[in-house]
Amino acid sequence: MNKKALNEGRIVDDRMGAIQRLTMDNTDKKNAITREMYLAMACALNNAASDPQVRTIWLRGAGGVFSSGNDLADFTKPEIEEPAPIQFVRALVNFPKPIVAQVEGLAVGIGATMLLHCDLIYAAEDTRFRMPFVNLGVVPEAGSSYLLPRVMGSAKAAELILLGRTFSALEADTLGMVSRVLPPAEVASAAESAAIALSKQPLGAVMKSRALLRDVSGETLDARIEREFEIFYESLQGPEFAEAARAFAEKREPDYSKITL
Ligand code: COA
Repeated sequence: MNKKALNEGRIVDDRMGAIQRLTMDNTDKKNAITREMYLAMACALNNAASDPQVRTIWLRGAGGVFSSGNDLADFTKPEIEEPAPIQFVRALVNFPKPIVAQVEGLAVGIGATMLLHCDLIYAAEDTRFRMPFVNLGVVPEAGSSYLLPRVMGSAKAAELILLGRTFSALEADTLGMVSRVLPPAEVASAAESAAIALSKQPLGAVMKSRALLRDVSGETLDARIEREFEIFYESLQGPEFAEAARAFAEKREPDYSKITL
């Protein structure tokens, strides 16, 4: 494992084969995200986006907690020219590869809204979720005012945002915010298995599929079907389908690890 600590250890960046694991590690403050942590995560994501060796991100928090959101102390400091949360959200939203989130303990504020930009989200059943933006006199961020009503419907989104109440992992699951809820002891291994499985998938097909799933441009169904088939038939000419077809004929598992995009 190639392990390097970014930013005084507050974001720990581990490479495990094709998986880049990012750990928010500010446990004294329940992994509140400081300005430096946002910038370190933005930098790690931007580097991983262009690194052909990285196929999947595995995002988690240290000490059995995902994150208590923005470090509240940072809100009172003078802002830098482009606020660090904006730089982080831009890097996250534009990140082209799949992200697996391991969510435990707390997912508050941006610790909850960043999950809307992750792909596979495994949550411990005792996780408390909360988006207390209105309670703090501000508004929801990271595209959540746009995405939450689409994920769960406007009445549910309004209750969670306007009241800012705490909700359980089970409710987050029912509302479509997480992929699966698990006993706390099983969350890390579920996230790891998913990251390993994802990193063995053909990356080109994964990236194109998640881009389709995440597209919020509002095109018509007809236009979407046209675009899907365009990418579908283009993909049939590519090296990933060739490997899939060869592996099927040879009755073996496909190996996409040597295919570069
Ligand atoms: N920013 C800065 N410090 C934070 C923090 C945050 N977002 N969340 C927690 N902390 C600090 C607490 O002040 C406390 O510090 P202390 O030990 O010096 O008193 C420490 O982390 C532990 O938090 P505590 O409140 O004792 O833990 P808890 O399990 O009882 O409650 C929370 C956890 C997250 C529910 C609660 O701390 C909280 O509401 N934090 C603010 C969350 C928030 O508003 N985030 C921003 C959204 S935009």
